[in-house]
Amino acid sequence: MSQRVLTTESGAPVADNQNSATAGVGGPLLLQDQHLLEKLARFNRERIPERVVHARGSGAYGHFEVTDDVTDYTHADFLNTVGKRTEVFVRFSTVADNLGGADAVRDPRGFAVKFYTQEGNYDLVGNNTPVFFIKDPIKFPDFIHSQKRDPFTGKQEPDNVWDFWAHSPEATHQVTWLMGDRGIPASYRHMNGYGSHTYQWTNSRGEAYFVKYHFKTNQGIRCLSTEQAQEIAGKDPNSHQTDLLQAIERGVHPSWTLYVQLMPAAEAADYRFNPFDLTKVWPHKDYPLKRVGRLVLDRNPDNVFAEVEQAAFSPNNFVPGIGPSPDKMLQGRLFAYADAHRYRLGVNHTQLAVNAPKAVPGGAANYGRDGLMASNSQGRYAKNYEPNSYDGPVETGRPLSAPLPVSGHTGTHAAPQHTKDDDFFQAGELYRLMTEEEKRRLIANIAGGLSQVSRDDVIEKNLAHFHAADTEYGKRVEEAVRALRED
Ligand code: HEM
Repeated sequence: MSQRVLTTESGAPVADNQNSATAGVGGPLLLQDQHLLEKLARFNRERIPERVVHARGSGAYGHFEVTDDVTDYTHADFLNTVGKRTEVFVRFSTVADNLGGADAVRDPRGFAVKFYTQEGNYDLVGNNTPVFFIKDPIKFPDFIHSQKRDPFTGKQEPDNVWDFWAHSPEATHQVTWLMGDRGIPASYRHMNGYGSHTYQWTNSRGEAYFVKYHFKTNQGIRCLSTEQAQEIAGKDPNSHQTDLLQAIERGVHPSWTLYVQLMPAAEAADYRFNPFDLTKVWPHKDYPLKRVGRLVLDRNPDNVFAEVEQAAFSPNNFVPGIGPSPDKMLQGRLFAYADAHRYRLGVNHTQLAVNAPKAVPGGAANYGRDGLMASNSQGRYAKNYEPNSYDGPVETGRPLSAPLPVSGHTGTHAAPQHTKDDDFFQAGELYRLMTEEEKRRLIANIAGGLSQVSRDDVIEKNLAHFHAADTEYGKRVEEAVRALRED
């Protein structure tokens, strides 16, 4: 094939890509040098706003294959036959740092899966942790402000991090998780993923189940100690990206086995934990894991910006047979993501290749039109209103999932308390599950952070949470913090 000619953006051949056009040999530049103007102007516009959280990430394509029959629980098309494969795009991420941060840090990891199903894209936007720090979305901007860079110092501040937790006893469970061994995964391949929230599945008889998703890594869990992570973050800030990219390029395709926990909808009201409280797990002895299928990643994106930076996942992208639960955090997220995408990528982000519902026969079909960067004209005969007499797309009359019961009065309510609900019990259970070595590292990690806090009252409030979770846990953290502060 003969080599292609370099062109301007409008396709005209470029004569010189090394020397700008000037008035005479040493003269000033000419405004008529279209190629130079375009190059400089495009360069200035290469960046878009980074994600306000989960800014650093890595992505890959692959597939999901159903291995077990779950048709008693959901009529989701992509889950309806053993052996059925659906293409996926997955983006992993760290949460708190900006794009310029490092991968090997103590932070939750994002685990966002886009299933390109024939009935629409299904986005499962989870983390590598089964729980979260808060249970009401109204606290999310404050929480994130406290964990990201301080507006004055421009860096993460232990004072802010721990001050927020001092005022958020419900975070104790997730803080225990984060400060433990799994707080720094060795790579994206060596961690589990969780939907974290409770979602709803509906079967073909209209029966509803509440469901929690667990992706278990088939590579085995591998984590870094604080010291190992500090060294790696310094040597290769992109360590997770390097690992994922190279593994897939080598043909070593990472995979995860998907399990679910299923709760018949009628059991939710009387369960000992509020099943819609994101700071709580459902112990497996109450709701055992049921295997569903296998997620495999086998193809790197060709262009990180186009396919990873521009990827848009929204927990509101459901498909028939799957829907939301009343979890308030999830409900807040149903708004937040697509709103972020409209700001970060524009209203037509769903037309970008990585986000388009490519497995839906004929693609998306609706009456939304126009807006910045609209590329889908839909042809001269497609009407932009509905109902119409021109055979345009029509509604099905079939809701995607079962309705959720509601009761009571409107108002700002604290989360409902079930019999075993408090902010500390499950944190204590997690602590008591750990081996002595795991406990030792957990205490050292917490003390390493908490001892840097400048105010005694903030330290005291945090210590009270660990005491409430488990007396021994609290005592050991207190002693370790005191020892470090006396140093
Ligand atoms: C009310 C609570 C939350 C709010 C308001 C919120 C909001 C956001 C926003 C605005 C983004 C950036 C989206 C973008 O620009 O593309 C984001 C990213 C993300 N969030 Fe949340 N979030 C919340 C809680 C959670 C929870 C509980 C999880 C996990 C269970 C989670 C997982 C993620 C992931 C994985 C991403 C990155 C998605 C990607 O790779 O593009 N978030 N979140």
